[in-house]
Amino acid sequence: MDSFEFNKIAGAVLGTLLFVMGLGIFSDALFHHAPPKMAGYNLPSAEAEGAAAATPAAAAVPLPELLAKADPKKGEALTKPCSACHTFEKGGPNKVGPNLYGVVNRPTASVAGFAYSDSLKGKGGQWSFENIDHFITNPKGYASGTKMAYGGEKDAARRADIIDYLRTLSDSPAPLPAPAKAP
Ligand code: HEC
Repeated sequence: MDSFEFNKIAGAVLGTLLFVMGLGIFSDALFHHAPPKMAGYNLPSAEAEGAAAATPAAAAVPLPELLAKADPKKGEALTKPCSACHTFEKGGPNKVGPNLYGVVNRPTASVAGFAYSDSLKGKGGQWSFENIDHFITNPKGYASGTKMAYGGEKDAARRADIIDYLRTLSDSPAPLPAPAKAP
């Protein structure tokens, strides 16, 4: 290869390099983006979501008010999943769970012949409206070792319907708690 040929090749290589570099500079100029002020994507802020989620809890209606508006007929329909494990009629047998006739204000874990968990036996007290409400919201949250394998009813108004139905299962139904008077 003589020097003339070498120069031609070197020139072509250099020319190509220059052209590519020039292209880079040119396209940079064309597509220049200002860097974002803050790195990352603009997601809805967790704070706003937290505030929205907190609202219903803050506005939670007290149980006595829900019970005043509850419908025992709806409650009876809502106890369908319970009846897989419980009977509701007077003198009904125990199934996976104890018979629930007269459960409102009945001492906790007191049905003769039913093998309660130690967790529920250790609770003491009785099945007040409030206690039933807490228990069926989240059985394991109320009595961590309970044998009641039921996920819980998260809707407060539905729980009130269920509790109002349970209240009717008695020879002398307990009076509904008086809703707190508005100040
Ligand atoms: C998968 C079966 C199952 C389902 C479904 C179920 N329970 Fe139970 N329930 C049990 C068992 C088992 C116990 C006894 C728990 C223990 O000993 O820890 C129990 C206990 C109870 C008690 C306490 C009774 C007592 O004598 O102390 C109440 C109240 C109760 N259940 C209400 C309900 C209601 C209301 C529903 C429906 C919303 C329901 N349960 C759904 C199995 C079930």
